[in-house]
Amino acid sequence: MDLAHGSLHVEGFFDPTSGTVSYLLLDRSTLQCALIDSVLDYDPQSGRTATTSADRLQARVQALGATVAWILETHVHADHLSAAPYLKERLGGRIGIGQRITTVQRIFGQLFNAGTGFALDGSQFDRLFTDGDVFDVGHLQVRAMHTPGHTPACMTYVVGDRSSTVAFVGDTLFMPDHGTARCDFPGGDARTLYRSINKVLALPAETTLYLCHDYPPGGRAVQFVSTVAEQRAMNIHVRDGVGEEQFVALRRARDATLALPALMLPSVQVNMCAGRLPEPESNGTRYLKIPLDAV
Ligand SMILES: [Fe+2]
Repeated sequence: MDLAHGSLHVEGFFDPTSGTVSYLLLDRSTLQCALIDSVLDYDPQSGRTATTSADRLQARVQALGATVAWILETHVHADHLSAAPYLKERLGGRIGIGQRITTVQRIFGQLFNAGTGFALDGSQFDRLFTDGDVFDVGHLQVRAMHTPGHTPACMTYVVGDRSSTVAFVGDTLFMPDHGTARCDFPGGDARTLYRSINKVLALPAETTLYLCHDYPPGGRAVQFVSTVAEQRAMNIHVRDGVGEEQFVALRRARDATLALPALMLPSVQVNMCAGRLPEPESNGTRYLKIPLDAV
C-alpha cells in the first residue's frame, strides 16, 4: 500500500497472521527511512520462525535505494515477535523504543525469571525515547509522544512536512469501528489510555493516523489509515462526548472478556530484549520459556 505525503512518504505492510501493520517512513529528499513495528514470522505449533514479512520490508527498502536510520517499536508487542535485530543486521539503523521499557522489563523479567544476566535498564535497545524527544529521519523531524495505557512504554511517533502531519499511534486507537486497544496486560491501565488517546486526538483534525493493527469486523476489507477527525466523529469507544469514566467502564468490561493473545508469552520474552532470540543451548537449538500457572 503506497501512501504519499510530499517529501514524507509512508508505506504500510499488513501481516494477516498477526493482524499487524509494519510501516516504512521515508524522507524522499534524502532517501533516509525508518521501519516501524516489524514482524518476525513465528508458527507456535512447530516453533519455527521465518523472515517472509521482514524480507518484504528489506526488499522494499532496497528497491527504493533507501538507507535505514531507525528501526522503531511503538511498544513491546504481545502478538508477534519483532524482526528488529534481523533487519538491523541487514540494513543498519538504530533500534528505538519508549524509555518506560524499563517498567516492562521489570514486570516481565520477574515473570520469566530472567535472572541477573537480563539488564533492566533498556540497554538492549540503541535509543530510549522520552515524551517530547525529537529525532531525524533525513530532513524529517519525528517527535516521540508517550502514550501509555495499553502498556507503560507505548509511544506515538508524530512527523510532518510542509503538506501534512502523520502519527504512528501503535496500539492506542484501532479503526473507528473497532475502537481502542486492550488495557489488561500487566502495567496497562484504561484511565491512562483514555488520557493518552486524548493527546493523540488533540493533534490537528486532518492528521493522518497509521494504526498498528486491524481486525476487520463484519468481513470489511483491511484498513489501517484514519484521521483525527474521523476518530473524533466515529470511534465506537472514544468519539467526542465519551467521558473518562464511561470509557474506563466500557474498556474494563470488554477486557474482562478477552483471551490472552496466542503469542503473548513467546512475543514478550523476545521483544523485551529488543527482539533478540535466546542464545542457542549446547545442542545449537534456541528455546523459548513458558511459565506454567503464572498468568
Ligand atoms: Fe500491542
